[in-house]
Amino acid sequence: MKKRLLMVSNRLPVKIAADGTATRTAGGLASALEGAELENEQIWVGWPGGAEEEFDDPEAISKQLNEQNTWPVFLSQAELDGFYEGYANSTLWPILHYMVERAKFSQEWWDSYKAVNQKFADVILSIAQDGDMIWIHDYHLFLLPELLRGTNMNLRVGFFLHTPFCSSEVFRVLPHRAELLRGVLGADIIGFHTSSYLRHFRSTLLRVLGKESEMDSIWYGGREVRLLAAPIGHNHLGFQKCMEREDFGEIVAEHREELNGKRLVLSVERLDYTKGVPQKLTAIHRFLKDNPEWCDEVIFVLISVPSRQGVEEYDQLTEEVQRAVGAINGEFGSVGHSPVQFLHRGFPPADLAALYALSELCLVTPLRDGMNLVAKEFLDCQREEIAGRPGVLILSELAGAAEELSNAIQVNPHNTEEVADAIARALEMPDEERKFRIEAMQRRLRLRHSGPWAQSFVEDLEKVPAREQRVAVF
Ligand code: G6P
Repeated sequence: MKKRLLMVSNRLPVKIAADGTATRTAGGLASALEGAELENEQIWVGWPGGAEEEFDDPEAISKQLNEQNTWPVFLSQAELDGFYEGYANSTLWPILHYMVERAKFSQEWWDSYKAVNQKFADVILSIAQDGDMIWIHDYHLFLLPELLRGTNMNLRVGFFLHTPFCSSEVFRVLPHRAELLRGVLGADIIGFHTSSYLRHFRSTLLRVLGKESEMDSIWYGGREVRLLAAPIGHNHLGFQKCMEREDFGEIVAEHREELNGKRLVLSVERLDYTKGVPQKLTAIHRFLKDNPEWCDEVIFVLISVPSRQGVEEYDQLTEEVQRAVGAINGEFGSVGHSPVQFLHRGFPPADLAALYALSELCLVTPLRDGMNLVAKEFLDCQREEIAGRPGVLILSELAGAAEELSNAIQVNPHNTEEVADAIARALEMPDEERKFRIEAMQRRLRLRHSGPWAQSFVEDLEKVPAREQRVAVF
């Protein structure tokens, strides 16, 4: 019989409002894992959103979620301030994305991070059974693998990082770098999206802990920890289902009408400073200035899903983006046309699929990104018969996806002229070249979607020997 799998991430794939209603959550991790159809019995453990104090009856919500094999870890307002907004998103997030000057450090946040990791461990240990596999996701829970190892249970623990792992020179800036590394080394398997992130992790182990490792493993604490690079895929099956819906044609027709005959250049991202939205707007400004003949022909639609509102940096960013959009439309718009549409909200997957299918060009230009699944979703949903011609992807070379998607037009997102020129080049690209580029990428990513990605990680975890066979052999 297949082993039971406990999936653990800070955020559950659903967000529960104070009155108990559930909505999908934004972000690549949630969307990809939704499409990972695993055969193992599965339990999800994670934060349901909001502060514990907001729920009238957390126990009732727990019960309701438990029926769907989901175990909530409620976080108090103080924990949200210290662990989530503080250490996870104002210390670790900027460091892992090379934005050292944005990182803030606080002993209180660190204490809260440790306490919340312990809280996750307590919830997991209250439901775990001998032989279970525990798959922990992302930077919020670096300490959790070691906390689970400290028990006597026979658990197989995997950890996957969905952000970049930065160079050791950057990681060593963290005051608690050694504790974080020891925490994650409690896992039996540690996975990253690219071989570069894995390389950075290995050199950090050497610089910070003085530990040598092999390409694919390290001996630590008398046992072997496997290291692997496995790029996550997108939710191919989910998007395919959307496109097979009976009303999909109508959804496409509605959006086509909104475009009013203009050629669609699409961007989709959480509104996060790592995504480079202001830099992208500077490049769009440059493109419109250099190519006035395109002003009335194209429409740039920026879908910016609100994110981490409450963290100062994110609130400032929203204002900055709104100002830049207004300035571009003021300069290049006409009575009947604003070249940039800023849509500050999430869209249901079927609408996203329709917009991806209708786009002539997708602009994915993060300053740093662990993977970026929008690039893969766009390519997968492209249909020549809907857009009229094959679409083109402009992709930041600083996104993890760039290692795989070599047929995209790759750009340095900090180079305004390069991005502006790439937009012009893409719009003018002959159909044969577009077709050649997109088909090569589509073939690959439709095979390597989130299903096989998750399946293969779980198979590796299943092969981890039982605890008693894992003790030191030297
Ligand atoms: C990124 C992270 C995820 C996170 C998501 C949304 O994709 O890798 O772990 O869930 O952003 O961010 P949030 O703070 O809203 O959970």
